[in-house]
Amino acid sequence: MPSTSGPTRDLPFSASGRSAVEPFIAMEVLASAVEREAAGHRVVRMEVGQPGASAPTPVLEAAHAALRGKLGYTEALGIRPLREAIAAHYGRTYGIELSPDRIAVTAGSSGAFSLAFLAAFDAGARVAVPTPGYPAYRNLLGALGLQVAEIETTAATRWTLTPDMIRAAHAREPLAGVLVASPANPTGTMYSPESLKALVETCDELGLWFISDEIYHGLVFSGQQSTALAFSPRAIVINSFSKYYCMTGWRIGWMVMPEVLVKPIDRLAQNLYLSNNEISQRAAVAAFDQRSTVELDAVKASYAANRAHLLARLPEIGFDELLPVDGAFYVYASVRRFSNDSVEFARRMLMEAGVAATPGPDFDSARGSGYIRFSFAGSEADIVEAVERIGGWLK
Ligand SMILES: Cc1ncc(COP(=O)(O)O)c(C=O)c1O
Repeated sequence: MPSTSGPTRDLPFSASGRSAVEPFIAMEVLASAVEREAAGHRVVRMEVGQPGASAPTPVLEAAHAALRGKLGYTEALGIRPLREAIAAHYGRTYGIELSPDRIAVTAGSSGAFSLAFLAAFDAGARVAVPTPGYPAYRNLLGALGLQVAEIETTAATRWTLTPDMIRAAHAREPLAGVLVASPANPTGTMYSPESLKALVETCDELGLWFISDEIYHGLVFSGQQSTALAFSPRAIVINSFSKYYCMTGWRIGWMVMPEVLVKPIDRLAQNLYLSNNEISQRAAVAAFDQRSTVELDAVKASYAANRAHLLARLPEIGFDELLPVDGAFYVYASVRRFSNDSVEFARRMLMEAGVAATPGPDFDSARGSGYIRFSFAGSEADIVEAVERIGGWLK
């Protein structure tokens, strides 16, 4: 019998350099939280950005109905009824008329990022992302052989990129694109329609692709959300059913493609994964039903209560710097008053206070050790309990 576990030390098998991406610390905190729970400890879970609620009833009903039929491959860019429903959503929500031909249905927004990066950029191209920011952007760009230009944001610009920052980065070393989320993870910051317009127009003028991550649209608590699509037909707009629609596990999202990228993205999708799974596509059509909206707006109201509670209570227990929480469901808070090492702070908070949260280095390798991210997508009772636990622990 050939051995499957013999020494491989001298053999030329090793993982590619491109796969040497950073781990996602949030997932490591999640593993520790699950371990604590399995050992019988109570843990309030605020580490992952995942809605506590399940998908709305019409989505579940549509999934049941889909199961009674035949499920197969679909068109690589998605089933027509879903592409039409998404296009209609742009009409209703933003007053933008959009051809369903410009919609690609993807495996969450994550699936859209790999397609967009491959379609828009050649290997070695430089793409700007703000920090703090969502870690998978830089890790995926790196794995695909693209260069990442991290641009630090600060309170001076409400943690957003400005046209001047883009121009300066492009002058230092030419960029090929800029990727921005609004509302953003972990900062919660949202660009005003005017500031988003200025950014998109600057990219258009400089000939840079603008990729707009709009995954937290629908979860806006202060200010007015706007889509980059309103400001340029060349913007690549990415969205998902994961957050507002409470469908993380269904792995379904979408992208609005500029005309010139429709065929390239279709070809890439055909070759990368043939098609998205049909059951999620059939179910997602029902996410736009009026009955779904009623349920989802109730979930959003509970996030609003959680947000208000955290914004009032976290400063009272000693968190003296909180970033804006215009939208999404995160509070990014400074821990510098308590520690210069947020990884250690988060570890102790989990073990001693029974609250799991994600330390900042996931989002900002240079400054993240001074910050921690709390997700408030859980229940109102959990959020109240978490603050009491942390407050008691910090006393
Ligand atoms: C800013 C941002 N973009 C994209 C994603 C990926 O989400 P999904 O692939 O579930 O659509 C996340 C997940 O947390 C996120 O926070």
